[in-house]
Amino acid sequence: MQARPDDPIAVFDSGVGGLSVLRHIAARLPQTNLIYLADQGHVPYGPRPAEEVRAFSEGITRFLLARRARLIVVACNTATAAALTSLRGTFPDLPFVGMEPAVKPGARQTRSGRVGVLATAGTFESQRYADLMARFASNVTLYENPCQGLVPLIEQGRLDGAETEQLLQGCLVPMLSAGVDTIVLGCTHYPFVLPLIARLAGPGVSLIDPAPAVARQAQRLLVEHEVAADGNGPRTLLAYTTGDPAAFASLAARLLGQPVAVRGLRWRDGALEPLSAPARATTGPDHTV
Ligand code: DGL
Repeated sequence: MQARPDDPIAVFDSGVGGLSVLRHIAARLPQTNLIYLADQGHVPYGPRPAEEVRAFSEGITRFLLARRARLIVVACNTATAAALTSLRGTFPDLPFVGMEPAVKPGARQTRSGRVGVLATAGTFESQRYADLMARFASNVTLYENPCQGLVPLIEQGRLDGAETEQLLQGCLVPMLSAGVDTIVLGCTHYPFVLPLIARLAGPGVSLIDPAPAVARQAQRLLVEHEVAADGNGPRTLLAYTTGDPAAFASLAARLLGQPVAVRGLRWRDGALEPLSAPARATTGPDHTV
């Protein structure tokens, strides 16, 4: 199928986390139409078996392709770890951009030789992560933490407050006491608690969010696949969720700082299908970014 200039870039994640990537893509490609898909019916992906995450990612990709996605950003480290290789094999004509913990920049940047990595259990257990460590972390020590329970708190919009702070403190204290001077945010949900992480970690610790690099890569791939021409009109951003559309619309509007049109989806026999009525946050009339 020949891509058209107004065909969208699609971005997906288990929930709101991928919006931390979408905001950089939106800024870099201001006229490109965007679709965002949050599989909130299945969030969190982190504790799930890789085959299950792979099956979800394939169902999501089929749905996005049917919406004429010309490039898909897997804005989820867990889904990238579980599914990116098989997605590229199953959909060889479709360009994908994946995400992985920024171990390489972390190892390059650290002066103490100690790097903290915050990611999900699914990411840490993956072959992709083992390969990353083998290639880039042989001269540094990595201190890993799966931040159990953090993704659900972020999904509830609890980006600060006592419970989130306490949970993060439990994740950060061991690596900070060990002397990390660099912390890699290896889950796309975590940039939304970056101010809290920065406060707890203190000024001597750098935090790495790979989202800007992912947005650059998405732009590069569009050019490479010669589908870089933009649409003419104001861009559209349409979001889908397999969770509650009204709840997603309100949290997404808060996280992106602007209203987002949201449609509900449901899973049936491994495929996604639309629910009926669109939901929209009430903060404004338009959904352009
Ligand atoms: N945001 C996702 C990631 O980057 C997954 C979070 C989850 O669903 O566990 O890994």
